[in-house]
Amino acid sequence: MKAIILAGGSGTRLYPITKVVNKHFLPIYNKPMIYYPLSMVMLLGIKEVLMIVNPSDESFFKSLLGDGKHIGMRIEYKVQEKPNGLAEGLLLGENFLCGDDVFYILGDNIFFGHGLPEVLKAAKDEVESNGGAYVFGYYVNDPERFGIVNFDKKGSVLSIEEKPKKPKTNWAVVGMYFYDKDAVKTAKSIEPSGRGELEITSVNNFYLKRKSLKIKLLGRGLAWFDAGTYDSFLEASEFVATIEKKTGLMIGCIEEIAYNNGWISKAELKGISEKLSKTDYGQYLQKLVKEG
Ligand code: TTP
Repeated sequence: MKAIILAGGSGTRLYPITKVVNKHFLPIYNKPMIYYPLSMVMLLGIKEVLMIVNPSDESFFKSLLGDGKHIGMRIEYKVQEKPNGLAEGLLLGENFLCGDDVFYILGDNIFFGHGLPEVLKAAKDEVESNGGAYVFGYYVNDPERFGIVNFDKKGSVLSIEEKPKKPKTNWAVVGMYFYDKDAVKTAKSIEPSGRGELEITSVNNFYLKRKSLKIKLLGRGLAWFDAGTYDSFLEASEFVATIEKKTGLMIGCIEEIAYNNGWISKAELKGISEKLSKTDYGQYLQKLVKEG
């Protein structure tokens, strides 16, 4: 399985700052937003990732993450000329995926919780073994903002509605999805929605119609932030700061995950930590080097 991270978009809800800087570079507490979805990919053990980026941002992404070698990965970039919708990333990823299954994650979605890597690994195994799509539901207060799942009385999924005016439930589909090799074909078959976007909800509904969509509802022990607004940005930053200060452990530290995965050596970790030694982040890496 490969991964695609969607890191384009227009970020209009974060204007005016996003007129000059892409939101995925902005810090959620002490590290760039893009580190969080990238760390989910790494926790799944996926080494090959395609970043979907805006034309003006490709060089900045390359300065920040390069080709991924320093964290034992292979990172590629594909420019999305215009933010035509979440499903367009599947079309842009066709050559990169080359018929492989995909873990598809939005660059502004942040997840944290005990047992989350295991939940994701189970979904990955399911799609790799039996095909289909696997998505996750999360109970929200503001269902009008999301793709919302409707269930029948037995709890089977009936449909997913994108940003419904009258939501039938409060269960939102979060911004990470597993798809089998048919995802690209499916994305090719959908039409733009009323707002002119290729919706990921259309892809999910396609799998649902084929009876090959699985959904797991995430419990309240897991945190999910869709950090596209100033409020959610602040909430996510406060959350990360609180957990990190309480535990002394970092969330979304890509070098730590690379080291724990055995993708980089202690000497490589030391090299990175020395370059960042003036920051808490660098000192954290230095502690890892010392403690092993
Ligand atoms: P959104 O938050 O839905 O859109 P946006 O980032 O353009 O922000 P706004 O609504 O404030 O204008 O996007 C979710 C994620 O997907 C985000 O990380 C950006 C990314 N994205 C793309 O890469 N390409 C796209 O065409 C769209 C719509 C979003």
